Amino acid sequence: MRRAAASRPGWDAVWVNANLATMVAGGDAYGAIRDGAIAVKDGQIAWVGPRKSLPRQKARYERDAGGRWITPGLVDCHTHLVFAGERAQEFEMRLKGATYEQIARSGGGINSTVTATRKASEEALFTAAARRLKSLMAEGVTTIEIKSGYGLDLANELKMLRVARRLGEEFPVTVKTTFLGAHALPAEFAGRQGAYVDLVVDKMLPAVARTGLADAVDAFAEKIAFTPQETTRIFAKAKLLGLPVKLHADQLSDQGGAALSAEFGALSADHLEYTSEAGIKAMATSGTVAVLLPGAFYFLRETKLPPLALFRQHGVPIALASDGNPGSAPTVSLLLMLNMACTLFRMTPEEALAGVTRNGAQALGVAAQCGTLEEGKRADLVVWDIGHPAELSYWLGHNPARTVVRGGRIVRQSRKS
Ligand code: NIG
Ligand code: FE
Repeated sequence: MRRAAASRPGWDAVWVNANLATMVAGGDAYGAIRDGAIAVKDGQIAWVGPRKSLPRQKARYERDAGGRWITPGLVDCHTHLVFAGERAQEFEMRLKGATYEQIARSGGGINSTVTATRKASEEALFTAAARRLKSLMAEGVTTIEIKSGYGLDLANELKMLRVARRLGEEFPVTVKTTFLGAHALPAEFAGRQGAYVDLVVDKMLPAVARTGLADAVDAFAEKIAFTPQETTRIFAKAKLLGLPVKLHADQLSDQGGAALSAEFGALSADHLEYTSEAGIKAMATSGTVAVLLPGAFYFLRETKLPPLALFRQHGVPIALASDGNPGSAPTVSLLLMLNMACTLFRMTPEEALAGVTRNGAQALGVAAQCGTLEEGKRADLVVWDIGHPAELSYWLGHNPARTVVRGGRIVRQSRKS
């Protein structure tokens, strides 16, 4: 109603002479429409199809895309973007032979970022995260998930979540926040893991739910982190509070994390290098998205490949994300992840692009709003200076984004056209 009343006649914007990678499943590769047009009205995609069928209407802004490709805005569905400091010295230690697990067990790893993040002011965290967010947005990211998990006490977890929310308010990007209180055992709880899980379940989760600062709940189920039983307690409480769940699952060993996620109808299970076929079948049944994180695989020099053939065989949707964090994936490039997913995991460029569009949106529970170029969805789109969508996976460290549009507004224009 409101939309109709506010509307002026005609399109707000239209791009013609564009090749559209709509990423709608089931049709041509990339859901491609060649020589297409896309029209935007009131922040939404109002029309998409072959140019010759575009209904004749006035447009306040009209662009000839010159045969360039337009994709949906990219979705980065797993990041730890808010943190203080860096862990370059741990990188050096690993190059001298220490493992990620050894560093974590000796008090470094996630806990060293916790120390830095607790000390940092909210403003300092915002400034550092904003810089990283801008790099991702410059590559066409219009929707991003941001986790807490470097506070590990109520005040600092809420501080991180507030920073994440504020990023979504101050930048033209949709931010989905995730509470990751069960990321690691904080140093002050050494030897008292059960007591920390009690704190997460009895105090932190209810407080987080009350504030409305988190859209989902995550945990790290791993030998160096939390057991499947502890994860179950956390998930059960999250469900009780009406918050959807997701899991850092089977990253370093098979903990049955995929099946556990599926049991709770998780939005996604993430990492999954060590997941079994039984876990994958359970994910297929529950509609849980597999989020693969090639940056962490690469940076930790993991050798166990995620079981891609089984995800394909059982029809589990595969998303890709940056995992941007100071320990296992110090990256601010989602396009680089597409390349790594293809070279390291042997995903196809089309699967990789679906992973950061349609399936990334599903992993965040926002598939009705974004992830494909379809009428009625939010007008999040990217015009790329490329001749074929496979180029998005092909270049290493090159950003061909020309125009980034979010909610119908141009948020980045790299060159005048
Ligand atoms: O997704 N696996 C646990 N969490 C992060 C790493 C966080 C860190 O090392 O700071 C991950 O890889
Ligand atoms: Fe992660």
